[in-house]
Amino acid sequence: MDKLIIEGGVKLSGEVTVSGAKNAALPILAATLLTDDACIIKGVPDLRDTSTMQKILRSLGKTAEYDSGNCMISSAKGTNHFADYKLVSTMRASFCVLGPLLGKLKKAKVSLPGGCVIGARPVDLHLKGLRALSADITIEGGYVIAKADKLCGARIYLGGAFGSSVLATDNVMMAAVLASGRTVIECAACEPEVADLAEFLIKMGAKIKGHGTPAIEIEGVKHLHGASHTIIPDRIEAGTLMLAALITEGDVLIKNILFQHQGGLLDKLEEAGASITKVDSSMRLRCAKKLKPVNITTFPYPGFPTDMQAQIMSLMSVTPGISVITEKVYPDRFMHVSELNRMGAHIQKEGPYAIVEGVRELSGAPVMASDLRASACLVLAGLAATGKTSISRIYHLERGYENMEAKLEKLGARVWREKE
Ligand code: UD1
Repeated sequence: MDKLIIEGGVKLSGEVTVSGAKNAALPILAATLLTDDACIIKGVPDLRDTSTMQKILRSLGKTAEYDSGNCMISSAKGTNHFADYKLVSTMRASFCVLGPLLGKLKKAKVSLPGGCVIGARPVDLHLKGLRALSADITIEGGYVIAKADKLCGARIYLGGAFGSSVLATDNVMMAAVLASGRTVIECAACEPEVADLAEFLIKMGAKIKGHGTPAIEIEGVKHLHGASHTIIPDRIEAGTLMLAALITEGDVLIKNILFQHQGGLLDKLEEAGASITKVDSSMRLRCAKKLKPVNITTFPYPGFPTDMQAQIMSLMSVTPGISVITEKVYPDRFMHVSELNRMGAHIQKEGPYAIVEGVRELSGAPVMASDLRASACLVLAGLAATGKTSISRIYHLERGYENMEAKLEKLGARVWREKE
C-alpha cells in the first residue's frame, strides 16, 4: 500500500483542469444496462470507482473498453441480473445497477452495499421507490431480489430523514423510464449529477422533465437505444482545487468549471473574503488577504455539499477565528477531525457540529485517510502545514480524484508516494 508524502508550505501557482464528475459517470455507466445497443461515454475520469463500475458491467454481460476518458459499452452476451457481493461491497454506488436491471430485465439480484465509515447508509428509499413502481422486493442472504411482471408508473415521495437521496433518485428514475405510464418523483435529488444522468437517459430515448428540480416527471417508453454523452465537470474536484489554492495562499487558474453548480461553495468563499475572478468556464483564485472564518451547514444540493465539508474544515482550521461546521446529510461524517487535530488544529466535535478555532499554522504529521473526502482534507492540510505530512491509506483518494498528485505537482506542490 502506498502513502502520500507532502512537504507543505509551497504557494500553489499555475493552471489546472478539472476532470469529469465521478458521481455523474457512475450512474451513467450503470444506465447503459437499459439498452443492448452500444453507448459511448466521454469524459469519464480514470478512477478506481469508475474502473469498479466497468468491472460490474462486465460481470453483468457487457463489454466495457476504456481509453483516455472515453468508455465504450456494448452488449457481449445479453445482460444477466446478478450483481455479486464481492464487487458491490467495494463501492456503494454499485447499488445503482438495481434500477436499470429491474427496468430492462424486470428482475435483479443485487448485493446490499453495507455500511460505510461516514455513517449508516440505508437503502430504504431506493426500495420504497422501486416497490411503488410495482416491483416485488425481498431481501435474502444480503441480497436485494427484485421482480416485476410489469413496472407501472406511480407518484413517489422520495424524501427521507436527511432530505433527498441522490442514488435512490437515480435508481428509481432508471427503472421508471421503462415502466408503463407516468411516474412523478417528489422530493427528488436536485444534484447536477442526477440531472446529467437524466440528460443521458433522454439521449437514449427516455421522456423525462423536471430533472434538476425536486419534481421529476417520467413518461415510460417501451425501448431505449444507444447514445453518446459527455460527463459534466466534477464540482467536488473543482471545489477541492479552489481550496488548495486558498489554503496555500496561491494564485491558480482552474479550468473546466460549471459555475452554476458551485453556488453553495462560492457563496461561502466570497463571505470568507476570497478573491475570485471568473472568465468563461475558468476561475482564477488568489489569496490577496487573510480570510475570515465562516459558519457552514451542509445540505442536499443546492446547499453546501457534504462532499466538501472535510476540505473546508482544513481551510477553516488555519483561518483565524471561530467557525462552526454543521453536518446535516451525514451527521457522523467527522473521521477527519482527529487527524486534523494531530496536525495541530483546534477542532472540537459536538454531535453533528464541529467547532473550529483557526490556528496560525498546522504542522506536518503522519495521518491516516479514512474515506475519500477525508483524504482530500488531509492533502489540503498537508499542503498548508510546515514540514512533512505522510498520509496513509491514500488509495481512498484514487477512488475519486483523477491524477490529483500530478495536478498538484504541476502547480508546484512537493508531493510524492512511498511504500507503507
Ligand atoms: C451520493 C454521492 C456521495 C454524496 C451523497 C450526498 C454518489 C455516487 N455518491 O451518495 O458522494 O456524499 O450523495 O450528497 O453520487 N438515505 C436514507 N435512505 C436511503 C438513502 C439515503 O436515509 O435509502 C440518507 C443517507 O443515509 C444520507 C442522506 O440520505 O443521510 C443522503 O444520502 P444519499 O443522497 O442517498 O447519498 P448517496 O446517493 O449514497
